[in-house]
Amino acid sequence: MNLELIINLSYIVSAALFIFGLKMLSSPASARKGNMLSALGMLLAVVATLLTQGLAFKWIIIGVAVGGILGILSARLIAMTAMPEMVALLNGSGGIASLLVGWAVYHFQPASSVLTTFTIFLSVLIGGVTFTGSLIAWAKLSEKLPGKPIMYPGQKIVNVLILVAIIAGGIIYCMNPAANYSIFLGIVGLSLILGILVVIPIGGADMPVVISLLNSYSGLAACAAGFVIQNNILIVAGSLVGASGIILTQIMCKAMNRSLGNVLFSGFGSTVQKQSADVEGEVKPIVVADAYFILEAARSVTFVPGYGMAVAQAQHAVRELGEILEANGAEVTYAIHPVAGRMPGHMNVLLAEANVPYDQLIEMDDINPIIETVDVAVVIGANDVVNPAARHDEASPIYGMPIINVDKAKTVFVLKRSMNTGFAGVQNELFYYDNTRMLFGDAKQSIQGLVAEFKN
Ligand code: TAP
Repeated sequence: MNLELIINLSYIVSAALFIFGLKMLSSPASARKGNMLSALGMLLAVVATLLTQGLAFKWIIIGVAVGGILGILSARLIAMTAMPEMVALLNGSGGIASLLVGWAVYHFQPASSVLTTFTIFLSVLIGGVTFTGSLIAWAKLSEKLPGKPIMYPGQKIVNVLILVAIIAGGIIYCMNPAANYSIFLGIVGLSLILGILVVIPIGGADMPVVISLLNSYSGLAACAAGFVIQNNILIVAGSLVGASGIILTQIMCKAMNRSLGNVLFSGFGSTVQKQSADVEGEVKPIVVADAYFILEAARSVTFVPGYGMAVAQAQHAVRELGEILEANGAEVTYAIHPVAGRMPGHMNVLLAEANVPYDQLIEMDDINPIIETVDVAVVIGANDVVNPAARHDEASPIYGMPIINVDKAKTVFVLKRSMNTGFAGVQNELFYYDNTRMLFGDAKQSIQGLVAEFKN
């Protein structure tokens, strides 16, 4: 068998491993194995690529060592709550890598085929936008930049004009690449500027959606780079990242009942949105000792975690309480809203870290039909994802967003520190319902208090 055939067969096996790995990522029970499978596919792809003749191994070894050390350190040091920031930086690295691959090929072979020239243009444009866009997303999430949308008059027109200039430059460059280095450099510069300008008007809290979109762009940039250097597995891997990123973006938008256009262009969070109806009624606080008696008698308990559980890092205490309730004879479940928290799968990751059994995690669409049979729904630092106004208040910014209907459970405990609003900035009428009791305080302390009551 010749070498090229071996390399291509390895690439086919790698591509299959990527696809099965991605499929397995869709369930928490198989996600770890899926990740390993994809990593194995990547290892095979890298080894097969290294078999290509004429490679300068000195530089590859230096690259692997530097990248490997940086990767291990950042993966070990990063806190789980800072994961979206890390993903933003990784996307940015993918973007700049594709830009540099395109640039290097152009630099060393300015007179290439039309396909190569055009894909160099694409890898530079998409890679550049992804790189600087991801850096802005990272800076907003880590609060190095203000999270508020930065908007100015004529913003969209400026962005469109820059894009038009890039496309016009691209046409001139593609017609005669060898003679247009300065135009090419202009395209590089404008693409980097465009990345900054398209992300600054987006609010910090929408960054997870933007990061998912940039993830998709980084895949498309890698795919373009794959065409530039004619590497089949880079084309396949780039397409898979591009497609899965856009699917995840759509899932997130749908779960928030917002269009992608609304996320990208509305400056959500810059101004006070439409006012929802005033909430009337009386808030009924409860203390840990009284909450204990109700939980002690409950036969079915559903925990509904949200962003506050992540802030309080209450997941281990929640798992402990869940185990105690089960030992006490209650059926315990965890209801997971697709956009609870601030990143996709946020709650799944936290609960998996605390070793909550996967079969106790129930998705929103599966818990809602049976929520009326639940004795106590314990809402832990969730707010928007359980706000009943989303079902009926047309003036509410979250109207139409699918929610977990905890208000239909027999009793609802809401664990949070105050009457403050959540991400969408709207008051929650659930807190005023007759069957709701507010257990004020840090979620971890409240849960630990309940655990202590059971132990006593
Ligand atoms: P939120 O609506 O943001 O509410 C979180 C609540 O947690 C707050 O009201 C806060 O109230 C409470 N909290 C904070 N720290 C706490 C602590 N230490 N102990 C107890 N409570 C604490 O969260 P959610 O219900 O998870 O909804 C998520 C929101 O984020 C949705 O609007 C969603 O559209 C949006 N979003 C999500 C994503 C993804 S992918 N998940 C992406 C973009 C946007 P207190 O201050 O009173 O404690």
